[in-house]
Amino acid sequence: MPSRADTQVRPYATFPHHPIHPFSHSPPRADTQVRPYALTLPCGKPLRVYPPFSHSPPGRTPRSAPTPPSPPLHLFTSSPIHPSPPHLQQVAILISRALRHQPLPRPKHTVEEQKQPSEVITLLSSRELEKMRKACQLAAQLLDYLTPYVKPGVSTLELNDLAEAWTQKHGAISAPLGYAGTVMPFPKSICTSINEVICHGIPNAEDVLRDGDIINIDVTPILDGYHGDTSRTFLVGDASPVARRLVEVTEECMWRGIQTVKPGARVGDIGAAIQAYAEAEGYSVVRDFVGHGVHRIFHAAPQIPHYGQRGKGKKLRPGMVFTIEPMINIGSHEAEILVDGWTAITVDRQLSAQFEHTVAVTKEGVEVLTLSPAKVVA
Ligand code: MF3
Ligand code: CO
Ligand code: CO
Repeated sequence: MPSRADTQVRPYATFPHHPIHPFSHSPPRADTQVRPYALTLPCGKPLRVYPPFSHSPPGRTPRSAPTPPSPPLHLFTSSPIHPSPPHLQQVAILISRALRHQPLPRPKHTVEEQKQPSEVITLLSSRELEKMRKACQLAAQLLDYLTPYVKPGVSTLELNDLAEAWTQKHGAISAPLGYAGTVMPFPKSICTSINEVICHGIPNAEDVLRDGDIINIDVTPILDGYHGDTSRTFLVGDASPVARRLVEVTEECMWRGIQTVKPGARVGDIGAAIQAYAEAEGYSVVRDFVGHGVHRIFHAAPQIPHYGQRGKGKKLRPGMVFTIEPMINIGSHEAEILVDGWTAITVDRQLSAQFEHTVAVTKEGVEVLTLSPAKVVA
């Protein structure tokens, strides 16, 4: 995999200060069967839409198509005279599913964050760092709490609802819920990304975990105004050696990135360490999504690419707090976004895994704020 460390980072729009149209990048590889449809949304926005994904790595039985919505969108329904091609009907289903989520009032935290995007890197005081510690410990505990439920037969909606109830019980707010996006606000409280879903999968009653799946669960509770952002990839039941290896290497990538963090190191050191290991293991590093500063603001400066060159990029200073959250693919690093505006999937539908910690740069080196207090193993 040739390094593209010198190309510009093109993160997806969860980073509001770099608005990138989610459908404008990553054409599918010519050798895949995936063909987009060019559509125009009622608002005039052009869309390149990809057929629905199966949630299944090659060789496994595809997941069933989503159940048809009711009522269906007349714009895309088939008529006996002009039947829509099957893929377009699937697109209609996806759009309907997206629209079925009621528009959410945007919670204050998302509005404020996106009003004043800033390139300025905040250095946290020890009082602020203490609040981050608490939010981040809550985030880690939330993942610990969810761990025993991650079993074949559970739906991602059930995981979402457990997470939301737990978060409320602990006096916190789920940052993803209502977080502004390009097509719609994020409609649920956590991200659940199965198999070929790279990140930002939306919990759904129809997405029921099956033996052999891998699933990343990404949580971000806000406690006393501060965000704790962490994710782990879980093996569901009896995962294949191929899936296991990917998940192991991805976690190790995160740790290798974290180990480079200390005052005076550069942002590029983090990505270089991750990229070197991932590519040596034959995997690719997702470019379109990056780590980010995190504190009172969910997605703040600096961006933390998971690829790059040692010695390049901003210098790390005590008080900086950011995430390291590599997404590692078995095949192509390229991502596509589903029509819901959120779900990012691999262009070749091969597996993708991710781990995320929130870390603070300290005088001594690095403090991992989202370490599991119970040392729960997924
Ligand atoms: N927690 C994700 C991250 O690591 C962001 C999720 S934004 C959402 O940055 F809106 F999709 F929830
Ligand atoms: Co996250
Ligand atoms: Co994050």
